[in-house]
Formats: sequence, C-alpha cells, structure tokens
Amino acid sequence: MALDTLETLAAPPLPATTRRRHLLDVDDWTPDELHALLMDAAHMRGVLAQSERLDTLRGRVLVNLFYENSTRTRVSFELAGKRLGADVTNVTASGSSVEKGESLRDTVRTLQALGAQIVVVRHSRAGAADLIAREIAGAVVNAGDGWHAHPTQALLDAFTLERHLGSVAGRRVVILGDILHSRVARSNVWALTALGAEVVLCGPPTLLPLAAVEMYTSRAVPGTGTPRRVAVEPRVERALAGADAVMVLRLQRERQQAGLLPSPREYTARYGLSPEHLRLARPGAVVLHPGPMNEGVEIDAAVAHGAASLIEEQVTNGVAVRMAVLALLAAGRMVESES
Ligand code: CP
Repeated sequence: MALDTLETLAAPPLPATTRRRHLLDVDDWTPDELHALLMDAAHMRGVLAQSERLDTLRGRVLVNLFYENSTRTRVSFELAGKRLGADVTNVTASGSSVEKGESLRDTVRTLQALGAQIVVVRHSRAGAADLIAREIAGAVVNAGDGWHAHPTQALLDAFTLERHLGSVAGRRVVILGDILHSRVARSNVWALTALGAEVVLCGPPTLLPLAAVEMYTSRAVPGTGTPRRVAVEPRVERALAGADAVMVLRLQRERQQAGLLPSPREYTARYGLSPEHLRLARPGAVVLHPGPMNEGVEIDAAVAHGAASLIEEQVTNGVAVRMAVLALLAAGRMVESES
C-alpha cells in the first residue's frame, strides 16, 4: 500500500516482528523492519496532519542529550516526544555539568536517576550511543555519533524517497559530496541498499572512503541475504547519469583542515549540484540534503529551492519518522540488540 494512502488511515499498521530496545544504527535492519517503520511513519504523518496527540509515551521521560549542535534533529525529537505524550527535557553540553568535566557515563547515570527512560543522544565521538546503551536500563536512540551513524536521518530520507518514488527498489540514488566525514551517508547506504536501491557514492577521491564500500558489499542484507549494491564514482557526470535521486551532503568545512580539497571554489565548480549538473539525472529526479546547507558551496540555491527539492519535506517528515521510532521503543518491540 502506498505511504500516502496509509496517512489517511486511522489505525497504525501492525508492528514489526523483530524486537529491539535501542536504535543505534540501521546496519542490521531487515527490509521487513524498514518497511514496517516507514508504514508507521506514514500513519504518524496522518496524526500530525490532523493535529492529533497520542498517549503512547504518557508518563515516560525522554531526554534529548546533545553534545553537538543541532536544529532539525533536536527539535523534531522534542516535538515527536510531546506529540506522543512524553515528558521531554533537553540537555546540551553547554550550560550543563558537562562543562564542569562530568563524564558521559556519569551524566547518563544522573539522567537515569532523574527518571530518564529514553535517551536521545548526539555526540562528536563515534560509539557514544553504544556506550550509553550499555549503561542504562532504558532505551537509547542515536541522533548522530561522530562520523559513524545517523539512523533516524536515514529513515526519514528513505521515507521521503519512498513517498515520492513509490519505492526505492531498483532506483539509482547518488550520494554526492563529503562522504568521508558523513554519518548520514553511512546510515543511508545501509537503509537504502536494504530497501533495494543502487547507491552511488560520488565526491572528490580524497573524500571517498574506498574501504567502506568493500565493507558494505561484504555484508548482505539481513533477512534476505541479498547483496548490497554500492558503487563509487568520482566523476560527477557519470554518477548523475540515470539518477532517480541525488542526496547532497554538507561540505564539512570544519573537518577540512588536512588539505583534502584544493579549494572550496574548485569543489563547488566540480561537485556542487547546479541546475546544469541536475539536468544530467533522469527527468523528474528528486534532490535531498540532510541540512544544514552551505548554499552556493555544495548546492546551488536554485536547486535547493527548486521544483525537484524535497529538502523542506525531509524536515517535516523527520517528526513523523521519529514518532514512529519512539513508538516502537514504547511498545517494547525493541529489545537490546547484540551490537
Ligand atoms: N540533519 C541534521 O542532523 O540536522 P541537525 O544538525 O540540524 O540536527
């Protein structure tokens, strides 16, 4: 059933069969689990459209623990938690006892002593969410850890693509830009290939982690055993030819100290998504960007705000997808995974 049809239905779809407690990444999610979550998100979109509130998390305490800056992820988790009836509080490193030197482990134990049952965490260090998951009795959602993973971004990207393409299976999705530093790219490769897409990673050779591709292709899709389809193509014209979707990544200028690029201007000329570059993709191809954007650097303003852009819809869908994720946790459908 199409996702936009599900948005109009009153009852949520049946729960996923696999049970987990945390959402740390989507690398071990099966296609069935992903489809179930996307259907739940479609239902949540309908709830949001009707300005409804649910009691799913009534009496539960959700803490947003953000050690890195965020607008979209933090606000959408806060809105998602409140729509589901949770008591939501936000903790940022700045202004908390983290600034006095309190460790991540002690901070989490303190939050648990204050009643936190769901901790949504963003941290600059890869593995921070896994560490917290080993410390607390409640559930942990990874809202981005270092270069490692950003699973709810990948889920909302998959949801947005499926709403517009019908299905990503058999589609060519180009992820364009600074792949090396991107947790968004890493989680998207897991999710999109599990859903049957062909993912092409395109960027300057210095920002393409070639070893990662072998790692992806060496791990078949859980549940089906299907090989993942991932390719690397540093030539943007070749990458974009036949693309159904282009996901542009932020050039992480704060991480470009090691001389990986000749200059931002040259990067824009060769890899920025301009109207001319977009014309190389299939007619009707859609454009995504996780945000925040450097307009005029990795993406031209005419593309970012043009007819092909789904960028604002990604943000809107983030609330529905995060509601679906939190509802999964609340329903006890997630028990601790092996990772
Ligand atoms: N996409 C994303 O993670 O955006 P924020 O940093 O604003 O949360």
